[in-house]
Amino acid sequence: MHFNHLLALVAFQSSTLAFRTLSPSYINSSAAYEVSSIEEAPSSFIKRVNKQTVLHSPTKVQLNSGLNLVLSDSNSESYSINITIDSIDYPLLIDTGSPYLWIYGSNCTDESCEDKQLYHALEDESIETFDLAYSSGSASGIVVQNDLIIAGLEDSKFAFGVADSVPDIFESYSFSGVLGLPSSDTSSTGMKNLIASLHNESVIEESKFSLCLGEYNTSTNVANAGLFIIGDDAKQLYTGDVYYTDVLDNDNSYWEIKIESLYIDGYQATFDSMKVDGESSKVSRLGVIDSGTTSIIASSADAVVIHSYFDDAVTDGENFAIFCNSTLTLDFEIGGHNFSLTSDQYIGQAYSKDSGYYGYCVSNIQGLDSTTDGSWILGALFLNDRFAVFDYDNAKVGFAERNENVILVPAPTASATTTSKASNSMSSTAIATKLTSGYTNSTTFTQSSMTSSQASSSTASHNAAFKNTHDSLTVGSLLGAVLCLLI
Ligand SMILES: *[C@@H]1O[C@H](CO)[C@@H](O)[C@H](O)[C@H]1NC(C)=O
Ligand SMILES: *[C@@H]1O[C@H](CO)[C@@H](O)[C@H](O)[C@H]1NC(C)=O
Ligand SMILES: *[C@@H]1O[C@H](CO)[C@@H](O)[C@H](O)[C@H]1NC(C)=O
Ligand SMILES: *[C@@H]1O[C@H](CO)[C@@H](O)[C@H](O)[C@H]1NC(C)=O
Ligand SMILES: *[C@@H]1O[C@H](CO)[C@@H](O)[C@H](O)[C@H]1NC(C)=O
Ligand SMILES: *[C@@H]1O[C@H](CO)[C@@H](O)[C@H](O)[C@H]1NC(C)=O
Ligand SMILES: *[C@@H]1O[C@H](CO)[C@@H](O)[C@H](O)[C@H]1NC(C)=O
Ligand SMILES: *[C@@H]1O[C@H](CO)[C@@H](O)[C@H](O)[C@H]1NC(C)=O
Repeated sequence: MHFNHLLALVAFQSSTLAFRTLSPSYINSSAAYEVSSIEEAPSSFIKRVNKQTVLHSPTKVQLNSGLNLVLSDSNSESYSINITIDSIDYPLLIDTGSPYLWIYGSNCTDESCEDKQLYHALEDESIETFDLAYSSGSASGIVVQNDLIIAGLEDSKFAFGVADSVPDIFESYSFSGVLGLPSSDTSSTGMKNLIASLHNESVIEESKFSLCLGEYNTSTNVANAGLFIIGDDAKQLYTGDVYYTDVLDNDNSYWEIKIESLYIDGYQATFDSMKVDGESSKVSRLGVIDSGTTSIIASSADAVVIHSYFDDAVTDGENFAIFCNSTLTLDFEIGGHNFSLTSDQYIGQAYSKDSGYYGYCVSNIQGLDSTTDGSWILGALFLNDRFAVFDYDNAKVGFAERNENVILVPAPTASATTTSKASNSMSSTAIATKLTSGYTNSTTFTQSSMTSSQASSSTASHNAAFKNTHDSLTVGSLLGAVLCLLI
């Protein structure tokens, strides 16, 4: 670990944002006001054909190494994946908005660590310290190295954080830490990103991962909330093409992209003018793809514009109430393709009879000025029921329509073992564990369909700094160098 580059970077704290706003909630009625409807609001709603479910001959997809089931908490507010260290499984929040991997340590006595799988580190294993501050407290502890298995793939001597202090807000979620998957290798913090590291160790051929949130049918009826795919293109999991868009330069290593337009039942929404990828625009917006956020968060002003298309929407400035019978379809135009969000996705909990808002439901689209550049946060709500690729080699994010006609089957378990080019120090127990999970090393990493001419990343400079002044990230070295990142 080298901390000789003391860059004045802004903190990576979108997970902070995620945890502040995990669930859109009821409006504060004493601060509520009606959103004025826009004049050209559509009066008749276009009925769209949504997902077709083909009920015959589903595609069988084997859970080979590189392909792992995603778990979710009971409210589907967070999504996690098991990683395995020394034969013990740790469910970690999949967070494309935070910078590195850290696990709750056995020294942690905070309530958030109660009844969780804790990692037992030895003091002399510590090579650094870490401190990741959230608005409600900080996650801090030591950095250790150990062999780690994710989706049946082993990364040898991976450096990760072991926290002895975890913010209270994590308490009600069953995961045991955070799998941070930033858009860069975060070399500036000295903590490597797991996918880039697997690639560097030649465990995977292509430096990318994909997420398919939303439950799959499985031949074994195992509970799941989707798939996490490392390296492989997994063509059977989507239909049609993958539409790619550049990851825009930003100081936070966010997966920040351009939303070309938002169409609300076919009407192109117009917002206040803002800079998007170097150009002033009233229709394009910036979006951070953040699996650690549950909802979709627009800036306050943009959220009001979006809800002005709904009849009689009400807001307290942050949360919105919309009619439960709303049927508008929102199309996010990204990478030259419309990705729809339908009412079954954006309509949340119903207001009770005595709330004064009977007939209203919570809108899962919130308004919060959480980014300095006005970027929206496209959380799990947007990722749900879609195939999303996060591509490091080409600095792109791609989306495709998910293939609903899939059934997951365990891979044949004969002579299975994990895939690792590095010296395999995994215990036989660990191998046995993976065997029963149905992994094999028969992974096929297909070539990316992208050509090198598409591989340029955007050079536009964006300042996507989140402006919450309470948040900071500090990474300290036991050798004395201290990197203190304050916004
Ligand atoms: C609700 O709004 C009122 C009026 O603005 C404010 O005084 C109160 O603190 C708010 N309550 C909450 C829980 O935010
Ligand atoms: C995750 O790990 C737990 C604990 O070992 C295990 O019970 C569960 O089946 C695992 N789930 C998946 C999807 O791997
Ligand atoms: C755990 O806590 C004890 C007592 O505070 C401390 O001495 C030890 O260094 C800690 N171990 C780790 C791995 O942080
Ligand atoms: C890649 O591996 C080499 C050694 O094999 C190491 O020196 C380098 O730091 C690694 N880079 C990353 C980004 O993991
Ligand atoms: C997205 O939908 C809008 C409204 O229906 C349409 O005008 C636009 O051309 C579509 N964009 C693409 C890329 O198909
Ligand atoms: C939708 O619900 C609202 C509130 O209950 C009601 O006033 C309105 O008539 C309903 N609209 C339709 C088209 O059913
Ligand atoms: C998935 O399971 C549901 C409920 O059992 C069933 O209706 C549907 O046809 C299944 N889909 C596939 C692709 O097998
Ligand atoms: C797994 O790899 C080992 C060693 O490379 C090989 O002998 C074995 O046949 C492989 N198993 C499968 C299922 O491909």
